[in-house]
This record gives sequence, C-alpha cells and structure tokens, in this order.
Amino acid sequence: MKISLENAADLLLKGNVVAVPTETVYGLAACLHELKAIEKIFLLKNRPPNNPLIIHLSNLSDLKSYVKDLPPFFNALAKKFWPGPLTFVLPIDETSIPKLVRAGLTTAAFRIPNHVVAQNLIHKTGPLVMPSANLSGKPSSTLRQHVENDFGESFPVLEGEICQYGIESTILIYHKNRWEIGRQGAISSEQIEEVLGYPPKISEKKENSPLCPGQLYRHYSPNAKLHMDASIPDSVEVVLGFSDRAYGNRRIFILGDSRNPSEVAHELYKNLRKLDEENISEAWVDMNFPKEDLWKSIRERLEKAASKL
Ligand code: TXA
Ligand code: MG
Repeated sequence: MKISLENAADLLLKGNVVAVPTETVYGLAACLHELKAIEKIFLLKNRPPNNPLIIHLSNLSDLKSYVKDLPPFFNALAKKFWPGPLTFVLPIDETSIPKLVRAGLTTAAFRIPNHVVAQNLIHKTGPLVMPSANLSGKPSSTLRQHVENDFGESFPVLEGEICQYGIESTILIYHKNRWEIGRQGAISSEQIEEVLGYPPKISEKKENSPLCPGQLYRHYSPNAKLHMDASIPDSVEVVLGFSDRAYGNRRIFILGDSRNPSEVAHELYKNLRKLDEENISEAWVDMNFPKEDLWKSIRERLEKAASKL
C-alpha cells in the first residue's frame, strides 16, 4: 500500500517497519535503535539472524558516531561513490550499534543512498537499517508490486518508485590491508580499481567464516529451474534473453539490449520474478555476454539465481 513520506517517517519513528525505494532495490526499513522493528524485519524476511544489516545514513558526518578508524582510501572512495550504491564494512564502536543489526560482529555496513525520497526520509528519521525488501533467497524488489507480492497488499510502501540501478550495492571490506569486494553490485570492480590503483579482490565463498555472511545463503532464486548451457536444450520453451537477438519460436523474457548492461541490471529481478508470476517451471538463460564491468555483477546474480544451494 502506497504511503506518503510523512506517514512513513511517522510509522518508523513509532517502531514500525516500512518498505522504502532506493536507487538500487527496495529496502525494508526500521530505525537503527528500534529493536522490536528490527526483529520483525528478520521474521518477515525469514532471514537468518547471523546475516547482518546495512545502516543507511544521510550524511558522511553521521559516520563519526559509530566508526573508530577509517581505513586508507576510505575518503577517496566515499568522495567518488557517496551518495550511491557502495556499502563499506567498517570497524565500529560496539556500544553505538545494536548487536542484532551487526549479527554480533565488531564491524557494521554503511551506505548513503542516492535517492531523493530515501534521503528525505532518513533526514526525518535518522539512520535506517534496510535489507532488501524480499523474502530471503528470492529476487529483490524493484517495484512496489514486488514488495506487495512478498509481504501483502496492505504492507506500507513509501511512494517514490524508481530503482535506477535495479541490483544491490557493491560491498567493500577492508581486509588484510587491502579493500576486498564482499558482494559485487551496482559499482563495478573496475570503477573501484580506478580509485585504489589496484584491483580489489573478489571474496571467495568460504563455508565457515565468509567476509560477508550473506555469501552463505541462497539468493535471487525464482522457483523455475534455470539452464545455462551453451545452447538451448530442446525441451526448454522459455528464454531469458536479449532484445537484439533471435531465439527461434520460443517465449522470450527480455533482459534488455546485449550492449547495455545498465538496462539489463535494471530489468533483471523484474524478469526473474515474472517467471514465478507466470508459473514457468524451466527457462534457458542466454549467458553469452561480456565478463567485465557491470556484466560481472549480472553474471554473479544469474549464477546464484540458478543455484539451488
Ligand atoms: O543496495 C543495497 O545494498 C540494498 C538497499 C536496500 O540498500 N540492501 C541490501 O541489503 O542489499 P541486504 O540485507 O539484502 O544485503 C546486505 C549484505 C548481506 O550480504 C550481509 O551479509 C552484508 O550486507 N553485511 C552487512 N553487514 C556486514 C558486516 N558487518 N560484515 C560483512 N557483511 C555485512
Ligand atoms: Mg538481499
């Protein structure tokens, strides 16, 4: 259910949960110190409690209340990418952030969204924790309708649709004297390398102690089985493909133009969700696209979506 900025701020300040559009995907928001509301976020999403939340700020100066030391290159990275879809995991003053938010870690994740509605809201409410507004394991939401499909028609959703990027923020973690990418996302590793002068390592999935706990879980998956073979299996009638390519006489879900990764990122979750909305049980994904820049994040999302682990 669409609600106004005033209404959303009021609900949040009274300890409720509200869905909020950002430039990446919709978030499920609660005020940083409203523990009941934060517990409710974990329950609503069916999110494992050891998967921490990102804190969304409106100003760089707000960081001072939480963070002890800023790692090298933080200022240069923040100057270039904030406000925007880059999340930093930073060492914190543990007394300043509820344990529940950071899953007991001694670090927390922060970003300043570049979305006028989200920013106006945070100005009114103060810092908000916001995981993506989807059931755990499912594709994120890029439209109000997606949020309502997951949480019900009457769930409060702040008006101000337009998730410009369509995929989540990139997460950077300072580890062993280098910045590492904990989750690929809307800012490419190449863009980050331009600031750092070295290519940030992309964290491997480690079973026991991943740098980014979210790596442990299934993500972005529709119910449909996704095939990624080099060619289309005969039995498969549905294709997730590009507008500038032909796939014979099959039903096509269009991801966008194969020369335009921004368009494809923007359309990605909408298409993965459409497979479920239309009860599709199997689809072939055209993985014949570049391995650089934003395409790398798109590839990672699709591979995870296809994995049932
Ligand atoms: O674009 C985005 O980042 C969206 C919008 C709403 O801002 N939010 C989002 O949140 O994607 P979520 O909860 O779906 O993903 C947050 C990721 C998880 O993988 C989590 O493990 C990681 O951030 N994370 C949070 N705090 C962390 C920490 N202290 N150390 C390592 N990873 C952390
Ligand atoms: Mg998520």
